[in-house]
Amino acid sequence: MVKKVTGRLPRLAAKIRFSRQETSVGVEGNGSYDSNTCPYPLSHRLSFALQERIQRARCRLHARLGDPSFDPGKFQIISIPLAIQGLDEAFSGYRLVHISDIHLGQWITAERLQGVVDLVNRQEPDLVAITGDFISYVFEDFADELARSLGRLRPRDATVAILGNHDHWVGADNIRRIIRNGNVMELCNDVFTVSRGSAMLHIAGLDDIIANKHHLDLVLSRLPSSGPAILLVHEPDFAEVSARTGRFCLQLSGHSHGGQIVIPGLGTPIRSNFFRKYPLGRYQVGDMVQYTNRGLGTNLIWSRINCPPEITVFSLHAGDNWRWSNK
Ligand SMILES: [Fe+2]
Repeated sequence: MVKKVTGRLPRLAAKIRFSRQETSVGVEGNGSYDSNTCPYPLSHRLSFALQERIQRARCRLHARLGDPSFDPGKFQIISIPLAIQGLDEAFSGYRLVHISDIHLGQWITAERLQGVVDLVNRQEPDLVAITGDFISYVFEDFADELARSLGRLRPRDATVAILGNHDHWVGADNIRRIIRNGNVMELCNDVFTVSRGSAMLHIAGLDDIIANKHHLDLVLSRLPSSGPAILLVHEPDFAEVSARTGRFCLQLSGHSHGGQIVIPGLGTPIRSNFFRKYPLGRYQVGDMVQYTNRGLGTNLIWSRINCPPEITVFSLHAGDNWRWSNK
């Protein structure tokens, strides 16, 4: 009699296969992922369905017992002056507000997201950039609220965004529709140029690396040959690839949640695929600056230690090079 092997070992093996799929960071994805024909192993899909149930149950429990209200003291606003080589004086003082990893429906409730939007608007942004993972496992329950909150953002020029791995897992088309309803311009493998007269600042976006939807060559082909360019990429360690192009002054990312635990002087001990090298804060990678935002929300584990949710406000000015300025 052949005994069917069930239990933890096959599930673990499947998980290992999945994590191996995640380990390659190339210049270009093969575009094979489709939300309707998910290529991930059965274990991933089962685990996803389980997480969906857990998220809903947890939301119900927290709605009864927890405190979903917004406390501005729990969010840190980080102001960063950034020198950019070749930036036209017309962009001096340009305010780019970066947020990431909302994960609406987990720790970030509708109330908290509305409060975050007010905080972002108070920074008087010229541009708001969102680097993916709008939701976690459930999207239907939060679609309207997400569109409503995003639609309340008031930047002078635009709100731009890319998708993260979770956005692909729940169905990229769904998230694309929601953020479009919220007046957010999606920049997956695309470029948006802000103009001031003849002066230009390019904001490029890459689709998700884990979902294997990234096409850096396409982005580069769409970038005008002159004018500084900022790249949005959900997974921070892609900086190793993007910096080598020599075309970007800054890469903005999220995904890591800053590791959610930070030890003073040591940083975060929590690192994983795609945020091993650049898990939080700022880094110099060649001539490019990599900035990894700690994110707003959390996914499975709702607590953070010394690693508060973050809103980053970049104030741009012309500089001799692309390195950090103390100005
Ligand atoms: Fe992510």
